[in-house]
Amino acid sequence: MKPYFITTAIDYTNAAPHIGHAYEKVLADVMARYQRLAGREVYFLTGVDQHGQKVQKKAAEAGLDPQQFVDGITEHFVTLWKKLGVEFDGWAATTAEPHKRVVQAILTNLHNAGQLYKAPRQGFYSVRQEQFLTEKERREDGTWSEEWGEVVELEEENWYFKLSEHVEWLKGFIRSHPDFIFPAFRTNDVINALEGSGSIDLCISRPKERLTWGIPLPFDPDFVNYVWFDALVNYISFAGYLAEEVGNTGLPDFKRLWPANAHVIGKDILTPPHAIYWPTMLHAMGFSDTEIPQLIVHGWWNLRGGKISKSVGNVIDPVQLADTFTPDGLRFYLMKDIATGYDADFSEDRIMMAYNKELAGGLGNLLNRTLNMASRYRNGVVKINDFDDEVCASLRQVVADAVAAYSPKMESWAIHHGIEEAWKIVTAANGFIEQTQPFKLAKDETQAARLDAVLRHLVEALAQVTVLLNPIMPVACPKIREQLGWVLPEGFTLDKLTWGLIPDGHQLGQGTPLFPRVEIEAAG
Ligand code: ME8
Ligand code: MG
Repeated sequence: MKPYFITTAIDYTNAAPHIGHAYEKVLADVMARYQRLAGREVYFLTGVDQHGQKVQKKAAEAGLDPQQFVDGITEHFVTLWKKLGVEFDGWAATTAEPHKRVVQAILTNLHNAGQLYKAPRQGFYSVRQEQFLTEKERREDGTWSEEWGEVVELEEENWYFKLSEHVEWLKGFIRSHPDFIFPAFRTNDVINALEGSGSIDLCISRPKERLTWGIPLPFDPDFVNYVWFDALVNYISFAGYLAEEVGNTGLPDFKRLWPANAHVIGKDILTPPHAIYWPTMLHAMGFSDTEIPQLIVHGWWNLRGGKISKSVGNVIDPVQLADTFTPDGLRFYLMKDIATGYDADFSEDRIMMAYNKELAGGLGNLLNRTLNMASRYRNGVVKINDFDDEVCASLRQVVADAVAAYSPKMESWAIHHGIEEAWKIVTAANGFIEQTQPFKLAKDETQAARLDAVLRHLVEALAQVTVLLNPIMPVACPKIREQLGWVLPEGFTLDKLTWGLIPDGHQLGQGTPLFPRVEIEAAG
């Protein structure tokens, strides 16, 4: 069976990672881990986008050679992914030689196929976005909106990709593939953009006088490749596309991996790069309609309703957040406080609440209470007996319902709903303690069988929760299992998640607080 192939946008190495970058990689990592838990083989590719004008400029400002500069920034990303438990199988760094060879081979192929031409063009150019602008992007009063930064008038010769030749095909493809873009409501943006500027070909070169930090065009040494063309190719170059032709080794078998099941990207890079440039590039290279990957388009984390950006000085440092709330605490917050596809507002109060109230107070407390009672009353030994009543039956039902509801939520990228399902178990189990009052049962010898059943239900419910939450909290969940004295059996998959994971006579481990409460000062 074909592996589940998941990719993300590759992050620009012009600045250190912020919370938005962390969110996207954690989202993809959660899905990769979920798919593995569901029993599928997974290949997770992510990386860094290292060429282009912005990098050249930043490197010059820092007095560094561009490669030195991007290597330094790349280190910040790699370190963060390690810290946050983002575990990828392939690393796409676009200055790597194998990638450059594939980009050049694709350019040569497209050139030979008559898909590229050289032409002069005069127009307005956004330095920040590294692209020519059209009248469509211009305000009524002739000015340009802030997102374009400095706009200069340029006249230069460049190489173009005949994107316009593929626009009719793309419109048809989008109409006949409603799943191409998730969530579907974003498809309209693409259709509108195609109605507006669909006839414009894509400039894929930059003259060397202006930009040297890019991949040289193999057929015209005066130019380097436009950074977006180069960056998009990462999805196939690092998956083994043309590996044999260009002499690349050690990469996956492209035929096995492609098409990617999901390109996880932010809403800002849907139109035009991922929904217009990329499918038309693939189409021009000879990829069929069934070989165009699905786009999973997430929303943005904002800060007090505004954009998170360096320029407004409100960058939220994911490293610091992970230090304060633990890496899994940050992952949990980033996954539960946003609906995939929509925006969310980052809030220190809310991450504090998620950590203190839900992780420490809800899950952590359930674990501590369960282990303490089992240790005090039963020396930490789980006993399975025939005792049953409505209270126990109802907890089992909550667990079974949550387990059944979890997968459809996760499959459809509603991670926050997947967490909600798991949390129904946490809430019900904590309520179960209030209802059954084990501390009272322990004082009454005639209630011994009931107490055994109560403790067993709590342990079993906890064990199951750690499985559901494992993709979201890959460090904390194994630690909970360690305290339960239970390890997930090798090759365990979700279909095996049924009542009865913990056997009779099971010896529980030691309880230690997993989520020590964070005080307001520490988070400030
Ligand atoms: O766009 N909230 O790189 P990038 C959520 N190199 N996601 C955010 C975000 C926020 N506040 N800010 C950024 C690029 N992102 C290109 C991609 S792909 C072939 C090349 C997301 O570093 C953004 O939407 O600017 C994008 O998906 C990713 O972070 C990298 O952004
Ligand atoms: Mg960006």
